[in-house]
Amino acid sequence: MMTLPGRQERGRVQVLRFIGFKSVSIASLSTRMVPHEAKLGSGAGRSFALCDADLRVSRRSNPAYEPKAKTRRVTMSHNSFGHLFRVTTFGESHGPAIGCVVDGCPPLIPITEAEIQLELDRRRPGQSRYTTQRQEPDEVRIVSGVFVDEASGEQVTTGTSIGLMIDNVDQRSKDYSDIKDKYRPGHADFTYDVKYGIRDYRGGGRSSARETAMRVAAGAIARKVVPGLKVRGALVQMGPHKIDRDNWDWEEVSRNPFFCPDAKAAAFYADYLDGIRKSGSSIGAVLEIVAEGVPEGLGAPIYGKLDADIAAALMSINAVKGVEIGEGFGAAELSGEDNADEMRAGNDGKPLFLTNHAGGILGGISTGQPVVARFAVKPTSSILSPRATVTRSGGEAEMFTKGRHDPCVGIRAVPVGEAMVACVLADHYLRHRGQVGVVEPRWPFGR
Ligand SMILES: Cc1cc2nc3c(=O)[nH]c(=O)nc-3n(C[C@H](O)[C@H](O)[C@H](O)COP(=O)(O)O)c2cc1C
Repeated sequence: MMTLPGRQERGRVQVLRFIGFKSVSIASLSTRMVPHEAKLGSGAGRSFALCDADLRVSRRSNPAYEPKAKTRRVTMSHNSFGHLFRVTTFGESHGPAIGCVVDGCPPLIPITEAEIQLELDRRRPGQSRYTTQRQEPDEVRIVSGVFVDEASGEQVTTGTSIGLMIDNVDQRSKDYSDIKDKYRPGHADFTYDVKYGIRDYRGGGRSSARETAMRVAAGAIARKVVPGLKVRGALVQMGPHKIDRDNWDWEEVSRNPFFCPDAKAAAFYADYLDGIRKSGSSIGAVLEIVAEGVPEGLGAPIYGKLDADIAAALMSINAVKGVEIGEGFGAAELSGEDNADEMRAGNDGKPLFLTNHAGGILGGISTGQPVVARFAVKPTSSILSPRATVTRSGGEAEMFTKGRHDPCVGIRAVPVGEAMVACVLADHYLRHRGQVGVVEPRWPFGR
């Protein structure tokens, strides 16, 4: 928002007249300008778009105003995240393909389609009766940014933008025909319509969690950017039922369909979720991501905090309603004595932290301890029992799901959470290197 000087105001008047406003004066203009990627018109050599408030003002001053679809332009330019390791995703659930561009990845990092596919296969639906039976093979293609390194014979990143594509092959539009004019409770149908005035109702369009496949693909590359980084995730609670943390075994995570590190809890979840699935209902979950091998020093003070960026990244995943770092909300129940991560001199040139209530981050900067984040995923909104809703035209209706759905979307969100944490860590690793250079751990100081 900024005040337009006279020359630009004159330009805006020209634009308003150009798009159909006949009686426009400089005095009737609100003095607001929004940058716009599409060139709507150019006043005084600048391109800009009109925001709704402008149109309202103009409408008042022009009784003959007739709304035209082409005059209502709103941007949705929020499809990228990260600064130096920057991921942009595109595509809808029922479009021909989904894809992403990973920009800023350093050169000479070995990467194959098979490695990316391995991660995608962990997220893929239809692998057990506890996830949706949609069959999306999610076969990834690398379409740019890699080349065979003559020295090693390996396919490596070139440092240019890496393009990844997945064709959509299991689109059954008929499953979604009922939601064309009705808003599904718990979905983004109403909000997309109210914001954009148009929505791709087939499978949720852009709001579909199909988009998260591209995050997982980008995450597979991010994992390789930080040397020695290991990012793993697990389901630690389903509904009100928490795992027994004393039973935690990482090996167990790949042995059951829930990504659950507690074999006993996984056996319980099998019966529990079967009951929920058969009744056509759904349930929420809590997932935990642990990143080991995170170098100390990643993250920056105040507005570049590592924990803030991780929280934002996890919160951006579909259906996520809460994020905790380290002790999280549990820290509110602890005393200062219990929460303090006491330190002792380690024998590897690093301090030895006796506990990790902070989740590996202090002052927004990594300590070198494992970074630990948890996130809560709401129950799947698509359920079989009818729920009250409204229609596009303002009527009241009932809505239930006929299509295929996950009884607990938390399960498939595990690889997505891992990928988002990996992307944030890769970004901060490059940002740290850009600002500070390659710094070997220097502690203890002053010897
Ligand atoms: C991996 C994954 C799969 C999902 N699958 C479904 C699904 O089958 N049915 C459904 O109702 N929601 C599903 N969701 C959640 C919706 O995409 C999400 O609730 C919806 O877009 C509204 O966004 P919000 O919950 O973030 O507000 C899934 C989420 C994730 C992370």
